[in-house]
Amino acid sequence: MQEKIKALCQKFTTQLSLIKNLQELEHLKVEFFGKKGIFQDLLLFLRTLPLSQRASLGREINQLKEELLQLYQQAFIGFGQAELSLSIAHEKIDATLPGRRLFMGRKHPLGKLKDEVISIFSSLGFSVQYSPDVDSDWYNYESLNFPPDHPAREMQDTFYIDATLLLRSHTSNAQIRVMERTTPPVRVIVPGTVYRNENISARSHVFFHQVEGFYVDQKVSLADLLDTMRTFWCRLLGKQIKMRFRPSYFPFVEPGLEIDISCAQCEGKGCSLCKENGWLEVAGAGMIHPEVLKNGGVDPELYSGYAWGLGLERLAMLLYGIDDIRLFSQNDLRFLSQF
Ligand code: FA5
Repeated sequence: MQEKIKALCQKFTTQLSLIKNLQELEHLKVEFFGKKGIFQDLLLFLRTLPLSQRASLGREINQLKEELLQLYQQAFIGFGQAELSLSIAHEKIDATLPGRRLFMGRKHPLGKLKDEVISIFSSLGFSVQYSPDVDSDWYNYESLNFPPDHPAREMQDTFYIDATLLLRSHTSNAQIRVMERTTPPVRVIVPGTVYRNENISARSHVFFHQVEGFYVDQKVSLADLLDTMRTFWCRLLGKQIKMRFRPSYFPFVEPGLEIDISCAQCEGKGCSLCKENGWLEVAGAGMIHPEVLKNGGVDPELYSGYAWGLGLERLAMLLYGIDDIRLFSQNDLRFLSQF
């Protein structure tokens, strides 16, 4: 057997020295180390020997296999490098070929609009804070004056994760969290994605983006809210616009308002964008309900506050004349590259 092992080693090294390229090297590998190769035959032969001889002979065969494999690997690296430099030497550069066009990434239109909204409110003294997308029923509803089974919960069809956890249905879920961790004056805006279990249509989606804003301090009045809103909309649209405030209902504000601005396209004359009535609905707002202030640990005898929430998609639709909300989430470059 010793003779056989020696001869095998000899055979491998002789064949290796005659090899001229990677292809021939692969054949050698299969012949010696393949599933039906020489070493496999040796192992089968080993099984036919008495147990007393198997261990020492097996060790010798494995050692030889290791050594030959190392020789194979060195040769593989050598041939590989030689072939690579040969292919580089033959490569030709055609300087007349047209260059490849580079596509630059750019911001999503909603991201751009969000940045603009943040920049205007920052200049008015608001800081940016965030609230979780997955939140408890307490922060999204109950602490905001929506008791369980209150019909107002149906205003926002909710995706529940379990009995107490949900996907936030509005960025108002930030109100109590921020009040809990801050002593007034509190002046923040909260951008974020919100989720509602609604039918998808040209104007409504199951996920969209809101920017919440609120201000809590001593003697904050409805006049402050109206003034902040007017300043914001005039700056965003870059011109003087008319606004109107309609009474509305949200359980967490009292009084509650719906804010309309004169149509940015027809300036109030009536067009398809404003459905011929000259006004566009842009946000919900109101004075924070005393019960909500209490839930946030703020004394309603000392402090008052206002809040608003606007939808970024609907705002972008009216600013850029987009007629279908689904375009924002379809990732169609023909749409996105226009911004
Ligand atoms: C709210 O979500 C209140 N949290 C806003 C608020 C905050 C009121 C603070 C008072 C004080 P509403 O459900 O109306 O309100 O949604 C606010 C805005 O989100 C709407 O004006 C609209 O622009 C947008 N919006 C609502 N539902 C959808 C939807 N399904 N798809 C796209 N945008 C929507």
